[in-house]
Amino acid sequence: MRDNRYSGFLKSFAPTFIRLLLLSATLVLIAANGASAAEEMNRAGYTSSTICSYCHADIYKSWEKSAHARAYTNRTFQESSRQAYMVSKVLAKNFCVKCHAPTAVYGPALDLDVNLPVTREGVGCDFCHTIEKVDLADVHVPYKADVGGQKNASMRLLGPKPNPSGANPAAHQAAYAAWFNKSELCGGCHEMANANGLKVGETYTEWKSSKYSAEGVQCQGCHMHATPGTPYESSVKKPAKTTIPNHSLSPEASRLQGAVDLKLVSAAPLEKGAYQVDVAMTNVKAGHNIPTGSPVRTLALEVTLQGDGMSRVVQVKTFGKRIIDKNGNWLVNDTDAQINGTKLKFNTSLRPMERREVRFVFANVPAGKVKVTARAFLTRNPVVDTDEHVLIPLGEAAK
Ligand code: HEC
Ligand code: HEC
Ligand code: HEC
Ligand code: HEC
Ligand code: HEC
Repeated sequence: MRDNRYSGFLKSFAPTFIRLLLLSATLVLIAANGASAAEEMNRAGYTSSTICSYCHADIYKSWEKSAHARAYTNRTFQESSRQAYMVSKVLAKNFCVKCHAPTAVYGPALDLDVNLPVTREGVGCDFCHTIEKVDLADVHVPYKADVGGQKNASMRLLGPKPNPSGANPAAHQAAYAAWFNKSELCGGCHEMANANGLKVGETYTEWKSSKYSAEGVQCQGCHMHATPGTPYESSVKKPAKTTIPNHSLSPEASRLQGAVDLKLVSAAPLEKGAYQVDVAMTNVKAGHNIPTGSPVRTLALEVTLQGDGMSRVVQVKTFGKRIIDKNGNWLVNDTDAQINGTKLKFNTSLRPMERREVRFVFANVPAGKVKVTARAFLTRNPVVDTDEHVLIPLGEAAK
C-alpha cells in the first residue's frame, strides 16, 4: 500500500523532477564553459580530462576513443591486474599503475588505491601535458612531472616562449617543449621492463634501431598525424587552424591495411602430390616490429589452396615472441609475462622494412589448376575469455 502511494507520487513527480535534473545539468555545462572551466582547473594536482574538454572538445573526442583513455578501466587490464594482485599485491598496486594510470604515482600525492576519479582516466590529457622532462635511463620513474598550471606541448600555438601575450592565462599557461613530438615522450611507457629486468615489450628500442629513427620519423609522425578538427573552441578564441593531432593514437584501418606487404614468390607442384608455396612478407609501414609490445600479440601468415578436385586447404604460421618463466614454461598472457617472465626464448617478429621468405609445403594436392592466396593478420589473445579474439587484416596476395 505504502509502496503504491510512493510509486504514484514518483509517477506524478518524476517528469518535473527529470526536467529539473536536465535543466540543472545544462546549467552546469554552461557554467563550466569558458570562464568557470578555467576556475575548475586544479592548480595543485591533476585536472580531469573532462575539464580540458570544455575548451579542447575535438581533441577530447579523439582521445576519448583511444586505448589511453581506457588504459585503466578496460576489462582486459582490470582482469589482468586482478590476476597480478593474487600473485603479488605490491607489484599489482605499485607497478602496473605506473603506465596504465600514471597520475597515481606522478602527482603531488600518491593514489595507489585509485580513489581519485582522475586516476581512472588512464593516460589522460594532464598527465602528458604536464611532463617536464623524460629520462629513459631512469627505468623506474622515467617521467618528471610539473603538475599544476602550466601545460607543455610542441605545437607552437603559444609561440616558442612560455606564456607570451597570446596565451589564455585564465585557463592555464603553456610552454613550448621541443621534445614533445619526439618518441622519447612515448618511450617511458612503451618500453616495458618487468620486475625481473626482462623487457616484456620494447617498441621504443625497436623504433630506435630502425631507419625511421635515423630519418627522424617519430612515433607521433605515424600515430598523431593531423586530422580535421579545431585545437580549441572558437568560443574561447578564434582557432588559427582546422586540424588537430590525432589523439586516438591507433593507426586507422586504412593505415593498417598493407602494413605487411605480401608477394607470392613461387607456387609449384613438387613430387608425389606435394605442393610448395614461398611467400615473401615485408614490414613496410610500422616503425617497429610487427607484432610489437605485449607478447599476447601474434602476426599470422595464412596460405590457402583451392583447385579442381580438391577441398580448400589452409596453413597458418605465426610470428612473435615467446617469453618463458624460470622453469621454462611458455607464458601466454600479460599478467604472467609481466610478473613471472625471466627470459626471451625467441623473437620471430618482423623488424621494420625486414623482408622474410616463408615456405609452406602441402601434401596430397591433385594435379591441375591451383589457386593460391596469402593473407597476413594480427591476432591477440586477451586474458578475458568473453573479449573478442581480435583479428586485424594487414596484407594480401593471390596467384
Ligand atoms: C578555459 C579554456 C581552456 C581550458 C579549460 C583548457 N585549455 Fe588548453 N588552451 C586553451 C586555449 C585558448 C589555448 C590556445 C592559447 C593561444 O593560442 O593563445 C590552449 C592551449 C593549450 C596547449 C598548448 C598547445 C601548444 O603547443 O601551444 C595545451 C598543451 C593545452 N592547452 C592543454 C590543456 C589541458 C591538458 C587542459 C586540461 C588540463 C586544458 N588545456 C584546459 C584553453 C583552455
Ligand atoms: C600520450 C600523451 C598525450 C595525451 C594523453 C594527450 N596529448 Fe595532447 N598532445 C600530445 C602530443 C605529443 C602533442 C603534439 C603533437 C606533435 O607535436 O606532433 C599534443 C598536442 C596537443 C595540443 C596542441 C594541438 C594543436 O593542434 O596545436 C593540445 C591543445 C592538446 N594536445 C590537448 C590535449 C588534450 C585536451 C588532451 C586530452 C583530451 C590531450 N592533449 C591528451 C600528447 C598527448
Ligand atoms: C603513461 C604511459 C604512456 C605514455 C606516455 C604513452 N602510452 Fe601509449 N599506451 C599506454 C598503455 C598503458 C597502453 C595500453 C592500454 C591498454 O590497452 O590497456 C597504450 C596503448 C597505445 C597504443 C595502442 C593502441 C591500440 O589500439 O592498441 C598506441 C598506438 C600507443 N599507445 C601509442 C603511443 C604513443 C605514440 C605515445 C607517445 C605520443 C604514447 N603511446 C604514450 C601507455 C602510454
Ligand atoms: C613508420 C610509422 C610508424 C612509426 C614511426 C611508429 N609506428 Fe606504431 N604502428 C604503426 C603501424 C602501421 C601499426 C600497425 C601494425 C602493427 O600493429 O604492428 C602500428 C602499431 C602500433 C601499436 C599497436 C600494436 C598492436 O599490435 O596492436 C603500438 C602500441 C605502437 N604502434 C606504438 C608505437 C610507438 C610507441 C612508436 C614510437 C616508439 C611507434 N609506434 C612508431 C606505424 C608506426
Ligand atoms: C612500463 C609500462 C607498463 C607497465 C609497468 C605495465 N604495462 Fe601493461 N601495457 C603497457 C603498454 C604500453 C601496453 C600496450 C601496448 C603494447 O602492448 O605494447 C600494455 C598492455 C597491457 C595489456 C593488454 C591490453 C589489451 O587490451 O590487449 C594488459 C592486459 C596489461 N598491459 C596488463 C598489465 C599488468 C597487469 C601490469 C602489471 C603487472 C602491467 N600491464 C604493467 C605498459 C605497461
